[in-house]
Amino acid sequence: MTRETIAIASDHAGVALKALLAEEVERLGYQPLDLGTHGTQSVDYPDFGRAVAKAVADGQARFGVAICGTGIGISIAANREPLVRAALCHDVTTARLARQHNDANVLALGARTIGNEVALDCLRTFLATAFEGGRHTARVAKLS
Ligand code: RB5
Repeated sequence: MTRETIAIASDHAGVALKALLAEEVERLGYQPLDLGTHGTQSVDYPDFGRAVAKAVADGQARFGVAICGTGIGISIAANREPLVRAALCHDVTTARLARQHNDANVLALGARTIGNEVALDCLRTFLATAFEGGRHTARVAKLS
């Protein structure tokens, strides 16, 4: 059976959290696609937001995970791609609602603003939650 691919990328601020979440992606039965960065040397978050967004928009990955210090810069970058709906989440509630109401396809996280356990909870919730459709469908369609 083919495993669904989850693209994951971060800047230098998110590299440790990226490794933790990539392991969890694998443990949950998905195929992680690590798009960097691969060290703590300072890099520019737009490059990594764009890489995740492109992988999702091209259909190479079902979902993306994008991490920077706050999650703000990398979510802005990912959302430049018209087919991407990147949601900056801080807890399980925002992760759940990002999927249920917004059909978000990229989970953005701030490595410097949330702890590892909260980030793991966000990831698990995001991947396990379906879009509700219904009244949200037309609203989401207006986003692209
Ligand atoms: C890098 O220092 C930091 O600015 C970046 O990770 C992010 O928080 C930007 O939004």
